[in-house]
Amino acid sequence: MTTLRIRRPDDWHLHLRDGEALAAVLPHTVRQFGRAIVMPNLKPPVTTTAAARAYRERIMALLPATSAFQPLMTLYLTDRTDPAEIAVARASGIVAGCKLYPAGATTNSDSGVTDIRRIDAVLERMAEHGVPLQVHAEVTAADVDVFDREKRFIDEILVPLHLRLPSLRIVLEHATTRAAAEFVKAARSNVAATLTPQHIAMNRNALFAGGIRPHHYCLPVLKRESDRVALLEAAVSGDPRFFLGTDSAPHARAAKETACGCAGIYSAHAAIELYAETFEAAGALERLEGFASEFGPRFYGLPLNAGFITLEKREWIVPQHYPFAGGDVLVPLRAGEPLAWRMTD
Ligand code: NCD
Ligand code: ZN
Repeated sequence: MTTLRIRRPDDWHLHLRDGEALAAVLPHTVRQFGRAIVMPNLKPPVTTTAAARAYRERIMALLPATSAFQPLMTLYLTDRTDPAEIAVARASGIVAGCKLYPAGATTNSDSGVTDIRRIDAVLERMAEHGVPLQVHAEVTAADVDVFDREKRFIDEILVPLHLRLPSLRIVLEHATTRAAAEFVKAARSNVAATLTPQHIAMNRNALFAGGIRPHHYCLPVLKRESDRVALLEAAVSGDPRFFLGTDSAPHARAAKETACGCAGIYSAHAAIELYAETFEAAGALERLEGFASEFGPRFYGLPLNAGFITLEKREWIVPQHYPFAGGDVLVPLRAGEPLAWRMTD
């Protein structure tokens, strides 16, 4: 049997939700990852260090006493974020970055930023204090084609921002286009991107394979095959500016399988296995450890995890669903289908 032992990975972009949903999904991430960057798009969003601390405590309260898992918290930027909050966040030691959601871009982003120039003072403080900016890189204007929204955001917002504040550390979250990979490669070394398991393995045909597939719908949406190829090349290239971020985003089945389904793909149940399968198919399994376990900590200035995990090449069938909140279930990526790798306990 083929086995692969790698340093314990981290997830640099994760949605954990709250309450019952948090309790349902947290064990999946904790089993695989040493740390995770926890997104702040709760209702209401996590906009202050005090709220991030309280959320972190709710997560910690659900962890087994023996767990070494560390949630790394983020603040949700709004038009009204107080620039003074950045120093508070930095001093807290629990906030790993601030998330920029353009208002209306995705799930729970109504209170996001309406115009980046409104948060100039906040971004300047972030650059000063070395606090990374995590970006949902999509313009939101209704007249912009949904498949062009990432590229337009890069050209109109990110390129000027990087020129204006070259010392600001930026993570282009869940990159979905060749344009995103090229932007990161052309930028300074303080600009990076996270890559999800779905965007390096699937293209937009997966949304329409034999019928409409709500469980393949996330934001930013899957793009063309040429985009997928560019992202996969970046992932397996060994370039440390590209690292693992699942964007695992759980929604109840009823909220996905409906006339207006929520955006979000759940992948935490098999995250490292999904990446292993795609890296193996690309002939690059030996590059998985850097991508999953080394480049993220390096970017965030954190130590590598001390422990290791083992993956076996052993086929298993992903369950059709997992328990979730409100009596509903959660349909995971690859539900009911075989997966080639399995992490051993
Ligand atoms: C995320 C969610 O559900 O919170 N959904 C998604 O499709 N990725 C929000 C986000 O990251 O855009
Ligand atoms: Zn996300």
